[in-house]
Amino acid sequence: MATTPSSDAPASPLLSEVLARFATTDNPRLRTVMLSLITHLHAFVHETAITWPEWEAAMGFLAKAAAVTGPGRNEFIALSDSIGLSMAVLAASQPKPPGATEPTLIGPFFLDDAPTVAIGADIANGASGQKLYVSGRVLNTAGTPITDAIVNVWQSDDRGLYDVQDNFDPANMWGRGRIRCDDQGRYAFWSVMPTAYPAPMDAALGDLIRATTNRYWRPAHLHFAIQTQMAAPLVTHIFARGSQYIDEDVAFGVRPSLIADFVPHRPGLAPDGTAMAEDFATLSYDFILT
Ligand SMILES: [Fe+2]
Repeated sequence: MATTPSSDAPASPLLSEVLARFATTDNPRLRTVMLSLITHLHAFVHETAITWPEWEAAMGFLAKAAAVTGPGRNEFIALSDSIGLSMAVLAASQPKPPGATEPTLIGPFFLDDAPTVAIGADIANGASGQKLYVSGRVLNTAGTPITDAIVNVWQSDDRGLYDVQDNFDPANMWGRGRIRCDDQGRYAFWSVMPTAYPAPMDAALGDLIRATTNRYWRPAHLHFAIQTQMAAPLVTHIFARGSQYIDEDVAFGVRPSLIADFVPHRPGLAPDGTAMAEDFATLSYDFILT
């Protein structure tokens, strides 16, 4: 006999009938999730006294999201991000102890086949923007280097665009790369300063945001996905302190611990010894995995 989620209000005859049928689901996890989801959605319908035209509009909204979803773009992820659900799922499923790097959402632009580059290489590959040198270590919470870590990074250029948004050529990706850490857990790469950018507003997300908050920007950030067999993998961002929109990220992804200084420098020697003839910036950040 399956249990149903607790609720203060007695279930209606309709809800009771629906729950009884879904309680026959064999997969126990799916049964738990579906019984809870159905219960909460029925409560939502009763609480809001939603009308049939409103419900039809909601179904049309989802269809509009589906129409633009495909390789390189998932409008449902963007919608999940925009109401804080992506971050809520991470908080519930990946709790981190104090001192560990916090996760944040993966966003719509990750590619799992970015080029592998050597430590210290330039991943910009033609991306426009001020030069940026990023370095740090991947460690566990005891301070031990994660020596098998692969650091995936991907980012926007100074127009706020990702390569997948700009006549994308899979054979010539830019602003992304994979770096294998050394035996001290060190990683480093050259790239360009990322900039704030608006969430894609041409489909369902745009309809929602225009009708509600009118907040649709993401502050400047670098994306990281760290793969390893020695610790729990990590997906996160590093945000540029002082970036416009840092307090109103459309995706609710900013955490204070993930804001770092992108330090500006006049022409001169970079940390890796490169003689820079132009202004540049540096970022130093250690990732602490659990
Ligand atoms: Fe991003």
